[in-house]
Amino acid sequence: MYNRKELEEKLISDFEWFHMHPELSYEENKTTEKIREILTESGIEILPYPLETGVIAIVRGSKNGPVQALRCDIDALPVKEETGLTYASCCEGKMHACGHDFHIIAGIGCAVLLQGRKDELAGDVKFIFQPGEETSVGALKILETDVLADVEQIWGIHADPTNDVGVLGIREGYVTAAVDRFVITIKGTGCHGAHPDDGTDPIPVAAAIVQALQTVVTRNINAFHPALVSVTRFQAGNTWNVIPESAVLEGTVRTMEREDRILFEKRVREIALHTSHAFGAEAEVEWIAGCPATYNDGGMAEESILMAEECGFSVVPEESSLGGDDFAFYEEKIPGCYIKIGTGKGERIHQPGFQVDESVILPAAEYLAKLMGGIMNNLI
Ligand code: NI
Repeated sequence: MYNRKELEEKLISDFEWFHMHPELSYEENKTTEKIREILTESGIEILPYPLETGVIAIVRGSKNGPVQALRCDIDALPVKEETGLTYASCCEGKMHACGHDFHIIAGIGCAVLLQGRKDELAGDVKFIFQPGEETSVGALKILETDVLADVEQIWGIHADPTNDVGVLGIREGYVTAAVDRFVITIKGTGCHGAHPDDGTDPIPVAAAIVQALQTVVTRNINAFHPALVSVTRFQAGNTWNVIPESAVLEGTVRTMEREDRILFEKRVREIALHTSHAFGAEAEVEWIAGCPATYNDGGMAEESILMAEECGFSVVPEESSLGGDDFAFYEEKIPGCYIKIGTGKGERIHQPGFQVDESVILPAAEYLAKLMGGIMNNLI
């Protein structure tokens, strides 16, 4: 077993390994192998789930208590790193630009600390090292197993470069949005650019749909509910004197409340279909549902705030975001709480200069271990 300083050095060195070896969603093979190796070395039990990538481990407490889980996502992004760190990515064009390397090491550190104190631990803690978070549906791979069957509550963490080390962002209620994607194909009739009356031009139809979609936010959704629609692709035609046959609109809808999500899909379909008909065109709407909104359970948020203060962290209200996290899929099954951990102010996540201040690693692991273990005195 390590002393506190040795453990910190070990965690930082393993963190740097993960940072240097980023792997994209569902390709996290070396990452998986490394997580297994570190956990096994520390005597932590790995549960035999047949995952292609990702690991589920458990620390079994000696006393009776509730089973809890910690979700740590493990995948990286197709971003070219520009941090200038000595341990920068050695995989060209790939980077841990969302801090999932930090999530991995905080989870490992927490597991090691709890394993060392399992005699005092009431209940079991499962560690879910989840692949594919950046696809927004990686959690579904984990949910294909029965890992949550006996779990009463789940915790999630995220690196937060808008806060200093020592600051945690926690709040009750919605913290990230439901993420949905749509593709609208408008079918008109192509013709000569000088004779639009010979066809049905899909471009003005698409333009009218783009305008009308924004009214869902301002006219249909309760003004106190966060929601947005962004049309991010508008494609039609390939030359200057031919009216094309079709136009394609693609984009994303973000909502927090369940009923707003349902309403939004209905309105997107209605606007696309009826606007097209009004112009004499046809439309096809494909709605691709992503993850739901994450919602922090009130009791868990309160518990995590009290423990943060106990551990010397200062707590700020977590900023809500219309970004998404597939952590929400777990919360459809059991209560959860998603905590933002200040990793030092700097470039935002998904940017090439994003980096994590290593001094946060051990305190974050200790905080999580105390939170889930309910152990108040020093862990190491
Ligand atoms: Ni992330």
